Amino acid sequence: AGLNAVAKASGKLYFGTATNANEFQDDPVYGAIINDTRQFGQISPANAMKWEFTEPNPGNFTFEDGDIIRDLARNNGQLLRGHNCVWYMQLPDWIANGTFTYHEMINIVENHCGTLVGHYKGEMYSWDVINESLNDDGSFRENVFFNATGPDYIPAALRAARAADPHAKLYINDYGIEGRGNKTTAIQNLVRKLKSEGVPIDGIGIQSHLTVGQLPTDLAENFQDFGRLGAEIGIEFAITEMDMRILGNVTAEVLEQQKAAYETVVDACHAVPECVGVTVWDFTDKYGWITDGHADIWDDDLQKKPAYDGVVLGF
Ligand code: XIL
Repeated sequence: AGLNAVAKASGKLYFGTATNANEFQDDPVYGAIINDTRQFGQISPANAMKWEFTEPNPGNFTFEDGDIIRDLARNNGQLLRGHNCVWYMQLPDWIANGTFTYHEMINIVENHCGTLVGHYKGEMYSWDVINESLNDDGSFRENVFFNATGPDYIPAALRAARAADPHAKLYINDYGIEGRGNKTTAIQNLVRKLKSEGVPIDGIGIQSHLTVGQLPTDLAENFQDFGRLGAEIGIEFAITEMDMRILGNVTAEVLEQQKAAYETVVDACHAVPECVGVTVWDFTDKYGWITDGHADIWDDDLQKKPAYDGVVLGF
């Protein structure tokens, strides 16, 4: 039936993938798969909407690359997850290497998020407004934004995004929160605090860049925790960037382990109503950003792997 069809039949909003324009423009086999809405009901720009591409110079916005991804989804009736407004990586030099006062940085963040989210007003299911803002121990990452404003850039970005597109669901997205731990507690406390202060926040993105044989043993319980928090304070969550790296040689046996791992993670989302959907961070080993891990669900030749069936079983 297809992964999106199975996801929707099981009560989720979508199964989706990240992509880059050259992949579907230059590769017709890839293109046929990503345009198949039985497989993918949601698209994330893997790179095209990041700061280095959308505001390469101060106040100089370019949306050509992002619009190509938007057009793919629009033509197919696929949902879009915007990615991202504020992240410490893939920044243009003017911001990565700059020093800014508190007020300069708040203005920069508000202008970037407001303009970016505003350009796609009415077209986004959700936005990863804040990406990877925490360290593994749960403290705030000391990035260029934090160094200027402390944590205040976070509510500033969220408020600017809400003002620019009141209907997009605003997410905080991170990795290393797939199992219980300090970082997971910290993101839950952060979202709880923002919500209690009236800051617009609608969701938590659990990236889920994982490794075969190293899944957190409490992943399913942890997803239940997120569901309970979501029901309590009125937020949703999603698996936003899943892949499943293989360490060492690719054997038939390890491909079965990868299939089981995909099933486990998808099932953890399936079991919790507040988990709205699952996105893989590209669907084929041909283009996945994990270049050495055979982490995706279609292989280098764009053939389905056992992992594909793991996703189906998980829903
Ligand atoms: C990755 C892209 O897929 C790569 O093409 C790029 O070179 C680096 O970034 N977490 C995120 C994504 O939030 O934006 C990252 O995407 C993967 C890790």
